[in-house]
Amino acid sequence: MHFRIRAATKEDCKDISRMIMELAVYEKMPDQVKISHEELERDGFSQNPFFECLVAEVPEEHKSEGGFTVVGYALYFYTYSTWKGPSVYLEDLYVMPEYRGNGIGKGLLCKVAEVGKKKQCVRLQLSVLNWNTPSRDFYAAKGAQDLTVSEGWHFIRFEGQSLDDLANEAPKD
Ligand SMILES: CC(C)(COP(=O)(O)OP(=O)(O)OC[C@H]1O[C@@H](n2cnc3c(N)ncnc32)[C@H](O)[C@@H]1OP(=O)(O)O)[C@@H](O)C(=O)NCCC(=O)NCCS
Repeated sequence: MHFRIRAATKEDCKDISRMIMELAVYEKMPDQVKISHEELERDGFSQNPFFECLVAEVPEEHKSEGGFTVVGYALYFYTYSTWKGPSVYLEDLYVMPEYRGNGIGKGLLCKVAEVGKKKQCVRLQLSVLNWNTPSRDFYAAKGAQDLTVSEGWHFIRFEGQSLDDLANEAPKD
């Protein structure tokens, strides 16, 4: 199937927001999604964006059952490894079910790698749920290492009260 991958614009935020929810449903955590498309616009398309995003688009004649032509996305941002240097972190990679198996996911992943390499990134990293074996296999087939298996890293988060508590305990100047 013919598709095109392009940088997302503000106008894509409704589609991205819709697919963020679809991905969260797939990941069995839809209640965790609190981001609105307005917040995505603010956070990704203002002067100092927190993220960049690519979208996959199909021609009008291949639009989805729901009438959508934006059928996949990859949302990523830049991080830094004190061991290796600039890195790109892939937060979300998603292709709508009816479009899977056409090379769109691979196209998005490769494009993020290309964009990262152009910015001197030496790593492309991401997290995937333990039970999501289709995606774990997909990344492994593309040559990714599973660091939980090989190095034993845990994925740690402060959020809500625990984050507030930490910030409140910061030493005052
Ligand atoms: C993972 C996902 C993005 C892949 O997208 P896709 O468009 O279906 O994948 P593609 O058609 O581009 O497949 C690309 C390659 O991966 C292979 N592949 C796809 N699924 C695979 C699987 N489950 N196991 C092994 N290889 C797989 C394809 O055979 C193809 O191989 P090739 O490059 O040798 O031809 C898509 O399945 C998806 O959105 N899944 C649900 C959401 C998700 O889990 N996202 C990742 C969260 S971390």
